[in-house]
Amino acid sequence: MNLGVNVDHVATLRNARGTTYPEPVIAALCAEYAGCSSIVVHVREDHRHIKERDACLIKQAIKIPLNLEMSVNKTIVSFALALKPKQATLVPERRQELTTEGGLDLIKNGLKIEKVSRQLKTAGIAVSLFVDPVKNQIKLARSMGVSLIEINTGKYSESKNSSGFKRQLSKIKEAVNFAKSQGFSVACGHGLDYENIKPIVKIKGITEFNIGHSIVCRSVFVGFPLAVEEMLGLIEKVSRQ
Ligand code: PXP
Repeated sequence: MNLGVNVDHVATLRNARGTTYPEPVIAALCAEYAGCSSIVVHVREDHRHIKERDACLIKQAIKIPLNLEMSVNKTIVSFALALKPKQATLVPERRQELTTEGGLDLIKNGLKIEKVSRQLKTAGIAVSLFVDPVKNQIKLARSMGVSLIEINTGKYSESKNSSGFKRQLSKIKEAVNFAKSQGFSVACGHGLDYENIKPIVKIKGITEFNIGHSIVCRSVFVGFPLAVEEMLGLIEKVSRQ
């Protein structure tokens, strides 16, 4: 099972004071050293954390794949086509949101998403679509000729009580099974931490977890390599149970 480490919030910390540190590229190298499988960054239209130069530096520095989270905004698409990361994950974006709030709406925005997916694939970039755990959305992703999907665990992570948590967990299980039956390679991410990831790891068929905020937060206390090693150890241990 693969762990993609999202280093966006190292940039959040840097940008909070307008300093040149901490450098996201150093965090990316530490995460690679600790054994993660890919580095994830989200170049948002408002550049609130990762900037284009961060993504470029990271792409040059790491040996593992770079997964660029991105919207279908024209300027961002041009940047992605020039950067050529190994993978791009298309996500919805709203200026006012605190973080990505939900999956793509492939019913409403399907044409644009399909067009951008095609452009990226033609440039040799693997494309993943970030969708909510909803069958119709997954079906549509399949019809767009995409073979990678990331299921949004945001609602699950935000569950306030055990019944909500169970309901969201079962939606994710069903979505993973359905996506596997449709031939997708399935990733999961958003809001996963050192506690709530355990039931998710037990779901068979997920090949990758993309995690950022909780690892960056933990690194404040334990250091980045240890934060990543702990998450990898946890995933391996729980998956073998
Ligand atoms: N996956 C996707 C598609 C995301 O948009 C994000 C947030 O940038 C993550 C995973 C990581 O979420 P978190 O920072 O909550 O772990």
